[in-house]
Formats: sequence, structure tokens, C-alpha cells
Amino acid sequence: MSSFQTLPGFREFYPEDLARRNHIFRRWRQAAHAFGFAEYDAPVLEPLDLYKAKSGDEIEGQLFNFTDKGGREVALRPEMTPTVCRLVGAKASALKRPIKWFSIAEFYRYERAQKGRQRSFFQLNADIFGESGPEAEIELIALLIQCLAGFGLTKDDFYVRLSDRDLWFFYLEALGFGDAPARELLGAIDKFEKMGDDTFKTYGEKHGELEPGKKAAILGFMKIRSLDALEREIAGLPQEQLKARVADWRKVLEGVSAMGLGEYVSVDLSVVRGLAYYTGFVFEAFDRQGDLRALAGGGRYDTLVEKLGGPALPAVGFAIGDVTTGLLLEQRGVMPAFVNAPDIYCVIGGAPERLAAFADIHVLRAAGRRVEYPMKELAFGKQFKAAAESGAKLALIYGGDELAKGIVKIRDLTERSEREVPRDQVVSAVRDFFSGQ
Ligand code: HAM
Repeated sequence: MSSFQTLPGFREFYPEDLARRNHIFRRWRQAAHAFGFAEYDAPVLEPLDLYKAKSGDEIEGQLFNFTDKGGREVALRPEMTPTVCRLVGAKASALKRPIKWFSIAEFYRYERAQKGRQRSFFQLNADIFGESGPEAEIELIALLIQCLAGFGLTKDDFYVRLSDRDLWFFYLEALGFGDAPARELLGAIDKFEKMGDDTFKTYGEKHGELEPGKKAAILGFMKIRSLDALEREIAGLPQEQLKARVADWRKVLEGVSAMGLGEYVSVDLSVVRGLAYYTGFVFEAFDRQGDLRALAGGGRYDTLVEKLGGPALPAVGFAIGDVTTGLLLEQRGVMPAFVNAPDIYCVIGGAPERLAAFADIHVLRAAGRRVEYPMKELAFGKQFKAAAESGAKLALIYGGDELAKGIVKIRDLTERSEREVPRDQVVSAVRDFFSGQ
């Protein structure tokens, strides 16, 4: 193996790969614009401390970090959330509320590279700051759905699982767990799908084994899949906050249903999210067939802006990744075939004709037409072959005889028809041809 190979988990984008990536970014950007989000960007290298203890153990263990030449502890960003909190926090009083921002950027996590997971990947991040009510969740869940529906995917292809860390905290409190053990338990629940019962072992080692009754209650709570089931489950519990929470749930579900998106959203209390900063609603998007890793994830993080030195500012957001989105688009056959074809191929006689052709080529290109011509003088036969193979719709033929008569031949390569136009009308003839396409 050559030592010049790419590092594991890092991708190279050949032109067709980049065309696919750009297609994904284009649709995401269209969706974010339609929802009124403003685009921002930020540094790829950040102080290590930005992630320590804020993102959670899992991400901390996956950081690409090093000491820079000035002795600073730095890390390549593994996610955008702490960074965007700093940006918003620093200018919070000057920003018009609600603050709706998005970005499309590259991130780095030292994970085991596997299907759907790389060490470098892209995310669209969309976040709303300054809105404490569930209206922000409605807006973000709708945007997340549009970030996938924009490719032609439907409710049969993907769905959003909605859950709530507030509810979990209230519920665990009702079962007698304090804040620290409750956090630890949520970490275990996050890994339950992957690890099964083993996930509770680490909790047991630290806090003593879970009592069977409590464990059964937790497993039961994880199985909740509807608002009715949730209401039944909490009916007997004393916590008043639980009831107020159900009202918020109703608002979110009614809101997304009114947008016609009800069938995309499932209540699923087994989702708790691995990142430490989430405080309320959390959600993740998955493919319906269930053979891909998460497409997107997000939730409310009302305390993070303040923890990072800003004012107290409620916040909700999500990130969708390019890797699983790309896999899903391929799987469902909705990734377009990108053909790298010019609009026009110029077939040129000798050196004098070349200069005449150059004048038109530049005018056409400046008008936005994609024009190719052979770099070197070639026999006509070879040029016609190249024109046909290029996928161009039109060939412009600049032969010596034609130019002597003051004309250029225009060949429609699809219809296989040809006509002559005066030289000074080439540009307008091309424009007319493409406006009729
Ligand atoms: P996350 O769940 O860690 O959330 O990542 C969101 C999405 O990014 C995942 O669902 C997945 O599509 C993609 N992703 C994450 N890691 C990888 C990887 N190693 N390879 C490929 N794709 C990956 C966050 O990052 C939160 N900061 C999202 C957020 C924004 N919460 C609030 N605002």
C-alpha cells in the first residue's frame, strides 16, 4: 500500500462525486432559504476547551486535537453547536429575534470508519435562538423534513423520531434518581439499541445495579410510541411539570400535522441523544428500512449559550449529514446522473479559423454557455467524433471555406440537422436555439 493514500475515513471527491455532494448542498441550501434561515460560517480549528465537558464524553473521545506551534490546545471541529453558540452569544443583544441561522460545513471525528460513518463529513446545521416555546421545534422539524423531501424522498423513505429529555429527567426523578445518575442513565439508554442490556453495566459499576422494578419502568418508558401512551404512563405521577410538558408535545405534533407532515413524525421515547447539552425535545431522522445510521439529529439546548460565556438564551437546532443522506438517495434511486457535457462543441479548421472561432467562443462563454473546442489542431473527422462523444447539443463549424463565405455552420447534434448562419449572427442563433430548449 502506498504511503500516499488518503487517511482512513477521509474521502476524495472526483468530479462526479463532487457533483453529487453539490446537489445535496444545493437542495439543503434551498430548503434553509425557503424557511428564512441566514447562512454563516466559522473556523474549522477551535480551542480544545470549547468541546471539553460540553459536547459529552463520546465526542470528546473522538476529537482530532493537537498542540499548535504557539502551544495552544486546539481541535478540528467535531460539530458546529458550541461554535454557533459562541457566535450568537457574543452578539446576542444586537441580533433580531428569533435568530434563525444555518451553515453547511465540514466536521472531523475520529470514529471507526464504516457504512455511513467517516472521519470527515459534512453537515447542514440549522438552529433557532431566542425562542423558548415549541414553535421553534415545529419550524426545525419541518425544515429537517424538507431537507430530505426536497430530493423527492417521501414519508415511505424516512421519518423523524421525536423524544424529550425533559420528560426523561422528570420521569427518572419520579423514580428517585438524582441529576448525575439520571444523566448517566440517559447515556446508557442512548446506546441501548446498539448494545442491548449490556449498556446498563457501566451505570451499575458506578451507581450500583438498577433495581429490577426501576429497570422495568425505564424499559417500559423507552417503549412509548404515542402521546396517548405517554399520558397514560404519567397519569399517576405527582410531577406537575409532566402535564405542562404534554401540552407542549401536543402543540408540536399539531403544528407539524397542520403543515401536512404528521406522517413523518413518530413519538419515540427510546431516543435520548448522546450529546450532553440537550435539555428538552430531541429528535433524530432515520430511513424507514432501518439499514442506515441516523440521517440527522438535534434538539433543544437552552443552557449552552450561557455555559459558553453568553447570555441566557434558549436554543434548538439539528444537523443533517451528507454521508447517510447520499447513501439514502442512491438507495432510493433519486440521485440524478450528472453528465459533465458542454452545450456547444466548436469544430475548427486551421490556425486562422481558430482565431475567428475564439472571438465567438468567448462571447458565448461570457453569456454563460458552456463551450469546448480542441486544444490542438485536429483533423475534422476526429473533431466530429469528439463533438459527438462530448454530449454537446450543438456543434459550431468554423471551416476555411465557410469563413471565406462569411458563414458558420450550426449542427444540431441531437436532430442531426445542419444549417448555415452569417458569422455575425452566430451568437444570436445559439441564444435562440437554447431558449427553445
Ligand atoms: P450528531 O447526532 O452528532 O449531532 O450528528 C448529526 C448528524 O451528522 C448525524 O445524524 C449524521 O448524519 C452526521 N454525522 C455525525 N457523525 C458522523 C460521522 N462520523 N460520519 C458521517 N456522518 C456523521 C450533532 O452534531 C449536533 N451538533 C446537532 C445539533 C445542531 N444539535 C443542535 N444543533
